Amino acid sequence: MSQTITIDPVTRLEGHGKITIQLNGQGEVEDAHFHVTQVRGFERFSQGRPFYEMPSLMARICGICPVSHLIASAKACEAIMSVRIPHTAAQLRRILNLAQMVQSHALSFFYLASPDLLLGMESDPAARNVFGVVAAKPELGRAGVALRRFGQHIIELLANKRIHPGWVVPGGVTEPLAAAKRDEILAMLPEAYANIGLALAAYKQIASTFKPEIEVFANFPSLYMSLINEDESIEFTDGALRMIDAQGNILDDGITAGKFSESIGEAVENYSYTKFAYYKPLGYPQGSYRVGPLARLNIVKSMGTPKAEDELAEFKQLAQGPVESSFYYHHARLVEILYGIEKIEQILSDPLILDKHVRAIAGVNRLEGAGQAEAPRGTLMHNYKVDENGLITWANLVIATGQNNNAMNNGVLQAARHYVKDGKFTEGVLNRVEAVIRAFDPCLSCSSHAFGQMPLVLSLLSPDGEVLDQVIR
Ligand code: MG
Ligand code: NI
Repeated sequence: MSQTITIDPVTRLEGHGKITIQLNGQGEVEDAHFHVTQVRGFERFSQGRPFYEMPSLMARICGICPVSHLIASAKACEAIMSVRIPHTAAQLRRILNLAQMVQSHALSFFYLASPDLLLGMESDPAARNVFGVVAAKPELGRAGVALRRFGQHIIELLANKRIHPGWVVPGGVTEPLAAAKRDEILAMLPEAYANIGLALAAYKQIASTFKPEIEVFANFPSLYMSLINEDESIEFTDGALRMIDAQGNILDDGITAGKFSESIGEAVENYSYTKFAYYKPLGYPQGSYRVGPLARLNIVKSMGTPKAEDELAEFKQLAQGPVESSFYYHHARLVEILYGIEKIEQILSDPLILDKHVRAIAGVNRLEGAGQAEAPRGTLMHNYKVDENGLITWANLVIATGQNNNAMNNGVLQAARHYVKDGKFTEGVLNRVEAVIRAFDPCLSCSSHAFGQMPLVLSLLSPDGEVLDQVIR
């Protein structure tokens, strides 16, 4: 008799998700799925709104990565306006996007992932959380809190608000940077460097104890996609997209936001509200690809900042070609935090950074526009169509989680097949299956906002849905 194991909701994620594991009559894993269980409707209810409202409307999609939505949306609007934004505005947006990446990666690594990594996959679930980390490793707990605050405070200094700031507008930003605020950011840098140094050292010390997880945490060949600069260095805000194949060869390059939909399609599966993005020339699911920190470090040739450059060289030593195990998303995230701090410091030394010209003004000059940016968890694309009055007639968003969807599903199946034996599972086994998803740090917030306590409910279901056994954490 076949059975289904359900993990609902999956905990320590940004949003709501559910995992089901289908067993066959022999108690072996037949199939496994990661379900995103909510629908939001932003693409639909934005219809009829003036295009210039889109950045602040779209930022409401997510409390974790509102800055990426602001930037991708503003860029789509600027394509409609046919303007290039002032240099200083572009630099200030870069700082904002990097600050968000640092705070979001700190949240992912310290609050969501480090309980598994520092306390152990089998550790007491009651203490396997950020408070347990603070109790067991106080200096690392403090480093995590401080790095998150570092990113959040920069966002607040630039944009006057930590969450859903309205400072990024079509054409640039509303206000230039004041010298006092620049100096305040500069003063925070030494502590930020010290904290990411601690985290990298701690991660490297424990990584080798996770060999079995590295082996089965979505460890397979795939395509990868991210933004990249013309000099092949990492880029979060400008540049164009590159797609590489499983061996690391360039499959497609210079994909601008305007050409995104020529290269990328979206498939639908009946078990999830999140779509499955794929590279069109290869079709679905062969054209499935990964985005986010692992993809970015697999694609770029340099970081463009000295300390992160050394870390990239070390990261590339993990494999001959692309690094395939999604466990290494954690490692890549820490390298990117270091890069973010260095790059913010670099941009602040731009002689034009306090310049007052930060906004270009224009009306509707084209009836369609697209913009893309790297969100912390991967490429984000906004595409809008407007009428002659600038009212939105159609909108499409492609978010990072949709692009990692196929890899997350295959990863859950790979880990479940390895760990669930003879229909038996322990709490630690289920935690590992969840941890596969946590490695990707999916932004389900981009489709839903978490509220209240999220218990982990694990159900063993008969084929007709009868609950045979249930564990509530
Ligand atoms: Mg869409
Ligand atoms: Ni998000």
